[in-house]
Amino acid sequence: MNIHSYFLPPQIEFGEGAIANLASHVQTLDGKKPLIVSDAGINSAGILSQATSPLDNASIPYATFIDIEPNPTDISVLDGLKVYQEEKCNLVIAVGGGSVMDAAKAIRLLTTHEPPLETYYIDSEGADKIHADMPPLICVPTTAGTGSEVSQGAIITDTSLQTTNRLRKRALITRFNMSNVALLDPELTLKMPQALTAATGMDAITHGIEAYVATKYHPISEGVALQAIKILGANIRTVYHNGDNITARGEMLLASCMGAFSFQKGLGAVHSIAHQLSTDAPIPHGIANAILLPPVMEFNLPHVIDKYADVAEALGVNVNGMSKGEAACAAIDEIQELNKELNMPKGLRKAGLDREKLPKLAADSMLDHCHKLNPRPCTESDMLKLLEAAF
Ligand SMILES: [Fe+2]
Repeated sequence: MNIHSYFLPPQIEFGEGAIANLASHVQTLDGKKPLIVSDAGINSAGILSQATSPLDNASIPYATFIDIEPNPTDISVLDGLKVYQEEKCNLVIAVGGGSVMDAAKAIRLLTTHEPPLETYYIDSEGADKIHADMPPLICVPTTAGTGSEVSQGAIITDTSLQTTNRLRKRALITRFNMSNVALLDPELTLKMPQALTAATGMDAITHGIEAYVATKYHPISEGVALQAIKILGANIRTVYHNGDNITARGEMLLASCMGAFSFQKGLGAVHSIAHQLSTDAPIPHGIANAILLPPVMEFNLPHVIDKYADVAEALGVNVNGMSKGEAACAAIDEIQELNKELNMPKGLRKAGLDREKLPKLAADSMLDHCHKLNPRPCTESDMLKLLEAAF
């Protein structure tokens, strides 16, 4: 029998008002001066002050770095590192969505690992060069989608490749990227705009579906993935139409965290292509996933009929009387229905992509690690066909 390694998430604290415990977590982790990593939008929406007020109340000094952009680059990571070092911080707190949490993980990595970041990307065989000696990390997600608070990955846009016109997202993947504490407070997600709620929610659903059918043997993750899909399917329409529903916001937040836990089993072709779409076109990650998910599911269908039938049931489709094949197709139909209801763009062209970029995107998608666990092996020509189908 093969030997398998599974990693469980860190401490997850979930509930309305959970942010009040931030100061005690900092103290438990012996944080003398945290670096708060966030972005300008979180700051101007007043969410950052919601997160920092427990530190103010406990008179814990902290430094802030709020210059993280969407699809964060290695340049922002170095800028954040500079603040960490100048301010003599000894703990990192990420307050934001996936971009912020991923950048915070990379900043934390470089506090104890010699730059450049290229040394450590998984596609340059860098994972083994990452060691456990890093400052503590507390993640406070303000969106419900990425689940980066419990994932081993951090996706960074690598600008060192710009000269060869291959600017692309690359992954730092190590169990040492896991946060020490994931603090899930649905109150911090209430101000999420409707479009962001939809896009991040579809990202979470894509995590669950791709993880459930990924080829790695990981029954623990499969169980979590299916339950995540169930909770997301039951709540995504509610939060889209009624963003003030704190109960549904909480369900989405916890399920997105579960989705990310489950994708330690692997992801698939949707994510390999979506990672490139966010660097080569102005298409946010969740929207790219939502558009790509139906064509990739159709491509995978013959290989995972039973599992897609399970997905249909988890999404809430009434599969009574359906064959496995019919139920599997119903899962794809349900994703298309969801995309319609959540007003996702009807294709990559409508989302702002130029057709001439498709061949380069197909080639770059092959360089991404995610598709290697896709249930149906992908060639570059498959990637191009999937891009054309999603166009
Ligand atoms: Fe994702």
